[in-house]
Amino acid sequence: MNYIGSKVSILDFIENSIIDFTKEDGHVFCDIFSGTGVVGTRFKMLGYDVIANDMQYYSYVINKHYLENNEDISFSGLKKIGIKDPFVFLNKLDNYRGFIYYNYTLEGSNERQYFKEENAIKIDSMRDAIEKWYKKGYIKTNEYYYLITCLLEASDKVANTASVYEAFLKNLKRSAQNDIEIKPLPITINKNTFSKVYIDDSNELIKKIDGDILYLDPPYNGRKYSSNYHILETIAYGDYPMIKGKTGVRQDGVKSKYNSLNCVMDAFEELIKHANFKYIFLSYNDEGIMSLDDIETIMSKYGRYYRYEKNHKRYKANKDKETTKKTTIEYLHALEKY
Ligand SMILES: C[S@@+](CC[C@H](N)C(=O)[O-])C[C@H]1O[C@@H](n2cnc3c(N)ncnc32)[C@H](O)[C@@H]1O
Repeated sequence: MNYIGSKVSILDFIENSIIDFTKEDGHVFCDIFSGTGVVGTRFKMLGYDVIANDMQYYSYVINKHYLENNEDISFSGLKKIGIKDPFVFLNKLDNYRGFIYYNYTLEGSNERQYFKEENAIKIDSMRDAIEKWYKKGYIKTNEYYYLITCLLEASDKVANTASVYEAFLKNLKRSAQNDIEIKPLPITINKNTFSKVYIDDSNELIKKIDGDILYLDPPYNGRKYSSNYHILETIAYGDYPMIKGKTGVRQDGVKSKYNSLNCVMDAFEELIKHANFKYIFLSYNDEGIMSLDDIETIMSKYGRYYRYEKNHKRYKANKDKETTKKTTIEYLHALEKY
């Protein structure tokens, strides 16, 4: 998934820096702003026990799949009722017009063209079937999270957006004209590890957990994940939320202190202070709302501080909506807490 702030392209830098600083001391790794779960999954595959957390439900679901699913999935309950392959079965469904169709297609909502009609009907039908299977006991909890993760990924591929759900495009872009296809995603198995996933505010959860390595990847700016990914949140919940405005965002969208210039410094220091972890790492780039000096000052109060950095090329839209290649510096701030 194309996710704001995803660390998928700098996983080696993160892994190498963390190993360099900790010298492989410790085995409990916590990814407390976990998003798509790629960092926690990398450390699971390295053999760490992983705690993951995010305040968004779609992220919780995705992390439940990639981290807590630790064996092959059999769908034995579905086989007993004659469904040999749930993906083949789901891809054929087109019988239910639900919340996505009525609110996020041109035909159903009269304005918002986030999906072509056929795809929205399929998303509604598939989500409905997954919920019914779960409620009737035909699929287990881990299979439920697995199927919703696959549906989120499939839906995101055919969304008619520039990349996030803060706005839809006027005309259906090419990828949004394709037919949605739900496909099996990888299952990451490492039998020597144990993972636990939470959905909580980082600053609340930090008071209830402990471990060896705490990895922090908070939002860098004012762009709210609850608005940027509101439709994924609704597909993940499969609910009927109150929505508002031209874009149809959920009214119950969660707010984060890490998006706010006024709150971020206090929230960050509170997190470091309460962290019951020996090592703490913070990913932050040079365009974030906290400055390098602010971060260094706060972290240095609590122990030995060091900073790793890497040039990172990315594409950025300029004023004329052209994309230009831009280099940002990704920092990994490291702290050994006294
Ligand atoms: C930069 S993204 C993390 C990206 C992730 N490392 C990845 O590679 O996919 C920041 C994440 O923090 C979450 N978040 C923001 N504020 C939070 C808070 N106070 N507590 C928990 N999660 C929060 C957002 O929902 C978002 O998924």
